[in-house]
Amino acid sequence: MSGLSRHRLLVGAALGAGVLGLGIPLTVGVSGSSSTGTLLRSRRALPAPFTRRLTVPPVLRPTSVTDGERYDVVQRVGQADILDGVSTPIWGYNGIFPRPTLRTRRGRPVTVTHRNELPVPTVVHLHGGHTPAAHDGYPTDFLLPEAMRDHRGHHAGAVTVRHRQYEYPMNQPAATLWYHDHRMDFTGPGVWRGLAGFHLITDDEEEALPLPSGPRDLPLMIADRAFDRDGSLLYPSVSDDLLDTPGVTPPYQAGVLGDVILVNGQPWPVTDVDGARYRLRLLNASNARRYRLRLDPPPPGGGTLVQIASDGGLLPAPITHDHIDLAPAERMDVIVDFSRWAPGQRVTLINEFGDDRTGLVMRFRVGDRASDDTRIPERLAGDYPTLLRSDATVTRSMVFQSQDVNGTHRWLINGEPYHPDHIHARPRLGSTEIWQLVGDLHHPVHLHLSHFQVLARGTGEPRPTDHGWKDTLDLLPGELAEIIIPFADYPGTYVFHCHNLEHEDMMMMGNFSVT
Ligand code: C2O
Ligand code: CU
Ligand code: CU
Repeated sequence: MSGLSRHRLLVGAALGAGVLGLGIPLTVGVSGSSSTGTLLRSRRALPAPFTRRLTVPPVLRPTSVTDGERYDVVQRVGQADILDGVSTPIWGYNGIFPRPTLRTRRGRPVTVTHRNELPVPTVVHLHGGHTPAAHDGYPTDFLLPEAMRDHRGHHAGAVTVRHRQYEYPMNQPAATLWYHDHRMDFTGPGVWRGLAGFHLITDDEEEALPLPSGPRDLPLMIADRAFDRDGSLLYPSVSDDLLDTPGVTPPYQAGVLGDVILVNGQPWPVTDVDGARYRLRLLNASNARRYRLRLDPPPPGGGTLVQIASDGGLLPAPITHDHIDLAPAERMDVIVDFSRWAPGQRVTLINEFGDDRTGLVMRFRVGDRASDDTRIPERLAGDYPTLLRSDATVTRSMVFQSQDVNGTHRWLINGEPYHPDHIHARPRLGSTEIWQLVGDLHHPVHLHLSHFQVLARGTGEPRPTDHGWKDTLDLLPGELAEIIIPFADYPGTYVFHCHNLEHEDMMMMGNFSVT
């Protein structure tokens, strides 16, 4: 029946009736129950944890600030210092990894001009941006390298240019966003090689809050990778040049999991912190790995991670967690008060979903108590409407599931593979919809353009980490989740997709067209 019979069928959770109703067999392996994917092992000795220093990506300077802000970015091959004794070739924005951070401000339009000196076309997407369709980084809106004459990918209607100015209105609240490659069929290898960075938006409301800032506002990009003997990045793509045949080789089709955990591009780094409050902006930039993050040891009394923001910006009020689950592409901003540990204490950020080395993320060395005039206010976002079921006029259901098509493994939405011309949904501009999402395995479901709120999980309440404005939902195997989405900002065609990047590249993406 299946050309992929060597894959294990290892789905622990019972499937919802919607999935069983389709009668599609599950044929892809899952390693463990916490991430959907297969571990790719490095071919060199793993670096020792907590020996490398945490670095913070540099903030990109605007080239002009009249008429909004302008930035210039060149995408090129660079050499990154990740492992001792060798350098690692990466694809970087400005050739560096970690990639530069954009810090911008609500109400000040931003133009980012990208030039591409990589050997492949690219697409830049601002993840979490409320962006007009022409600037959102549609998967076939290619930015061509100078040397490449033409490229259509798989789509005759592809739009190709050599310089692309992405215009972002920045009509959205303070939030931790990120930008990354989004080329049709090749997003997984593009991001794996380094094409991802932070884009942090601030606004007056956030600045008026007594939150940690400056060096105590730490963006932390968590991403797993695997390395070859010579220190280069390993990735099991079908094609070497990443130009024609998309996808990864078996047994990695369910997702590529690396055995080295990088934070801001450094393996298991260590950093010194004052005994004071910090804002940690946690981003899971991994292709497929999910994390359950916890600080170890916990301080007396627990309640270690005080979440203040979600994907789309500040929560209405802080939420205290002892651990948080973070699926690919999700962000959570948490406040950690390091004065709760004794000076000299080593506090390790651990991943309870990992084992052995992948169970470690990074380490903080707590210093002396330092002066700190920050607080965690009881109210954060002043303007936070809670959406109600009755606000929605349309309900749709979206099933995320794998299928073998003529012996080829594909990931589908409602039985359809991604095609630029196939529209899965046509919401009306200004309307609000409920989408019921269900999947066979873990599928971090991401919508472009609009942030949403989570209404329900299974038959119960949203999970503690589901609150706030979300753009990515950690959909669990067989569990129905309901989200409510206002399609408010712009008309046009946008994608929604699974943010397990191997699933995305192997067709688990759809279009919605706002009219
Ligand atoms: Cu993070 Cu469609 O992207
Ligand atoms: Cu996005
Ligand atoms: Cu998926």
